Amino acid sequence: KRPAGAPDRAIAKPVTKVGVIGAGLMASQFALLFVRRLRVPVVITDLDQSRVDKGVASIHREIEQLRAKGRISGDEANRLTALVTGTTDRAHFADCDWVIEAVFEELEVKQEVFAQIEKYLSPTAVLATNTSSLSVEQIGAKLEHPERLVGFHFFNPVAVMPLIEVVRTPLTDDATLSTAMVTAAALRKNAVITKDTPGFVVNRILAKVLGEAMHAVDTGTPFAVVDGSVQPFGLPMTPFELLELVGLKVGAHVLDTHHAAFPDRFFDSPNLHALAELGHIFERDSKGAIKGYDKKAVAIV
Ligand code: 3HC
Repeated sequence: KRPAGAPDRAIAKPVTKVGVIGAGLMASQFALLFVRRLRVPVVITDLDQSRVDKGVASIHREIEQLRAKGRISGDEANRLTALVTGTTDRAHFADCDWVIEAVFEELEVKQEVFAQIEKYLSPTAVLATNTSSLSVEQIGAKLEHPERLVGFHFFNPVAVMPLIEVVRTPLTDDATLSTAMVTAAALRKNAVITKDTPGFVVNRILAKVLGEAMHAVDTGTPFAVVDGSVQPFGLPMTPFELLELVGLKVGAHVLDTHHAAFPDRFFDSPNLHALAELGHIFERDSKGAIKGYDKKAVAIV
């Protein structure tokens, strides 16, 4: 028997073609997962052809690496490669029944992206956003049918991290939620349903850890001391390595969103922003351990 509040999987819509908006780091990673696990055509779009080409090429490279490692056969690699295409023509999204975006983390940008694409979509298509901490309901504010929008938040690296946060807004309808849960299971991920609150669950906790770590170094604690202090927790990466993995810009944005929502509970970090804006990562010692800010970026530190 279905637990109270759990979605009825029987009303999930079939996913026979996936549309991905954005061809960056996260979008390319989950586009590969969709094609690998669902074995359906995946079409990718972005602002211009060169971004599209770059994203598609990176997925084709990943498929080739899976073949080289013996994870998939040559035939399978050819099949998967043929299923991934890129276009700047949104008309190719008309027969997608699952459309997911991972464009820049800016509310207005995401609102516009969905408002634009909705015109091309079938009335039954489900829309998903991979936003890491923006309000899903607000992202759908310009949609004609916001009831078909759901948050579908992957973690980096997508191939390895087992969780997807499925974010239900007050408007998300049952068929959309159910489709998201069934799709997550088909991707072989654990899905948890979260409320549409800043940072959902995972980033709310992560923003605390990463924000405190940045605040400590911003106020003079050496990087190595912070790293040493979190060691007993056995994390696979230190807070600073994790910030580099997700990208300093994304990390700074996550801290910002939480600080804006709960200023008395979360730190933001101007130094992290400065590094991110200049496209820098942290400075490392000769053994590769993170030891400080990149001095070129720290005029303000
Ligand atoms: N893409 C695909 N596969 C990857 C990968 C990548 N980027 N990085 C590692 N892997 C795979 C490897 O191929 C290997 O697979 P195999 O065992 O089948 O060969 C496996 O992961 C383990 O890799 P390694 O042995 O090289 O490395 P580690 O054991 O050190 O693990 C790690 C690497 C999985 C990245 C681990 O360090 C980890 O779990 N780090 C924490 C990651 C994390 O917390 N992510 C969440 C970030 S928050 C987020 O994304 C939300 C956003 O909104 C901000």
